[in-house]
Amino acid sequence: MNKRDVDLMGDWQRSCRCGEPREEDVGHELTLMGWTRALRDHGGLLFIDLRDRTGIVQVVVNPEVTPEAHEKAKRVRSEDVLAVRGSLVRRSEETVNPNIATGAVELMAQELRVLNPSRVPPFPVDDEVEPTETSRFRYRYLDLRRPRSLRPLEVRHRMLTTIRNHLDGLSFTEVETPILTKSTPEGARDYLVPSRMHPGKFYALPQSPQLFKQILMVGGVDRYFQVVRCFRDEDLRMDRQPEFTQLDIEMSFVRPEDIFAMVEGMMARVFKEVRGVELETPFPRLTWEEAMSRYGTDKPDLRFGLELVELSDPFRDSDVAIFSRALAAGGIVKGLRVPWAAGLSRKEIDDLTGLVGRYGAKGLAWIKVLEGEWQSPLTKFLSESEKEALGTLTQARPGDVIFMLADDSRIVNEGLANLRLEMGRRLELVKEGLHAFSWILDFPLVEWKEAEGRYTAVHHPFTAPREEDLPFLKEDPGRVRSRAYDLVLNGMELGGGSIRIHSPELQREVLSLLDVKPETVEEQFGFLLEALDLGAPPHGGIAFGVDRLAMLLSDSPAIREVIAFPKSQRAVCMLTEAPTAVDAHQLSDLYIRTLDIPIKGKAGD
Ligand code: AMO
Repeated sequence: MNKRDVDLMGDWQRSCRCGEPREEDVGHELTLMGWTRALRDHGGLLFIDLRDRTGIVQVVVNPEVTPEAHEKAKRVRSEDVLAVRGSLVRRSEETVNPNIATGAVELMAQELRVLNPSRVPPFPVDDEVEPTETSRFRYRYLDLRRPRSLRPLEVRHRMLTTIRNHLDGLSFTEVETPILTKSTPEGARDYLVPSRMHPGKFYALPQSPQLFKQILMVGGVDRYFQVVRCFRDEDLRMDRQPEFTQLDIEMSFVRPEDIFAMVEGMMARVFKEVRGVELETPFPRLTWEEAMSRYGTDKPDLRFGLELVELSDPFRDSDVAIFSRALAAGGIVKGLRVPWAAGLSRKEIDDLTGLVGRYGAKGLAWIKVLEGEWQSPLTKFLSESEKEALGTLTQARPGDVIFMLADDSRIVNEGLANLRLEMGRRLELVKEGLHAFSWILDFPLVEWKEAEGRYTAVHHPFTAPREEDLPFLKEDPGRVRSRAYDLVLNGMELGGGSIRIHSPELQREVLSLLDVKPETVEEQFGFLLEALDLGAPPHGGIAFGVDRLAMLLSDSPAIREVIAFPKSQRAVCMLTEAPTAVDAHQLSDLYIRTLDIPIKGKAGD
């Protein structure tokens, strides 16, 4: 590549940004700086589109007026960084460009400086041309020069500024908690950092500041928040990153209703200031049981109806073997009535069977409800009373299809929940621009993990059980409901929290229910139990996925759009290529030797 001349910026000072000059500025001498978006040669006159984050302005370089600037401009290439001094003039009527804010004016160049010539960029920096994902994030700095890519980061900034102001107004204090810390069980794998000072010992990067924020309550901080980076070594999806940001909140002397009211006020303000949308508060509340029963999921998309129907009772002694067998094995039967779907073809129904199959369902039963007739492979097995019960429970009308699944409750609920979403999409029931929030309450405290042979916490081990369920804690832990809640928006979990256990005795009891050995309890949680024993107030809180909220507020299709430098699906930083090998010295300083052969059989390999 030829070396090109570079000018110094000298004492030039930018008068305004590229997108700002307007007709009322005509006649002013301006100094503008930015990137070259395009260069056009119109019979000697050179036109440069100069761009920065505020927009584009047209610069005209006339060889008759400024031969020196014109000579330089001839060598200008896309993405060169320029400074141009000149006077702002009105464009002639026929050259006005109504598509850009500066379209009525242009800068007549008097002097031009090439502050930094650019190599030929790997893709055109232009909202009109979409580079591949890989190029976009490998050259994120070029990508961010495109307004479409920068906008989600601006929305995120506006959102966080609004949140900080709002919480400050409610007497919250932002407190930073350690990043080099001890593992807190939030359910994912930890990222570990070896200690040089303590050979063989490790810090864990926080999966969340859960225990620190509880301890701050013991310290009388009363209302805490933090915009905090969290780290979880888990498999990635469109709405997950290995490092992500939480808006973490904790309050003392509160009931769940106090947290809900605070969050609803905050969300209403954020949606108003960032999107100009008035939210209706309070948000609807559903118990976990109700959400599972009506939608098959604890993250229901309430932008449309289509509710599931419990159908176990009418089919207990059914001749339909798939139903009676599933019920005898302790499973359930549920249905989904889809209006106006009787026109579905066999092929379409086969596709839907494939969809529920992904969640473990072995088939999908269906009935097309037609005028005076039910069409279905099952009709000949259905008794009159079963038909009648089906008709009443589903409220089916001619033109509808009733889909049914019979299996264990997880398969039935997951299958039908996803079928519901798919039908909602196909029937275009999801109205764009709707923000359907809901609180899901009373999650079970624990669930039995067959593979581990023990109970695990559904939220986390510091979540308080509901007082009226305490008597079951010993004999029937699966029946105990917790004081945990999630905030769901349009089918996505935005945040989750709970009222915490503040009694050391109850905390020990719950840890032992989770099969944490007494010595581990002391070693892992001794500091927490001690703090709980030294005047811990009743307290509770919540944490939101900042990235997820920003993604929704900016209408972004994926979480990486609202993160300046996101990780790939394989957890690689696409700009720096981290993680990378380190040299032997660094490892020996840390008393670490790596194995050449990956350990087989470990989850995730
Ligand atoms: P939880 O584990 O539910 O709760 O996390 C809170 C919220 O953080 C977001 N989130 C994520 N966002 C992006 N990528 C990820 N990998 C990821 N994992 C979680 C979600 C989620 O709702 N300490 C508790 C909170 C509390 O009890 O106060 C906690 O961390 O939006």
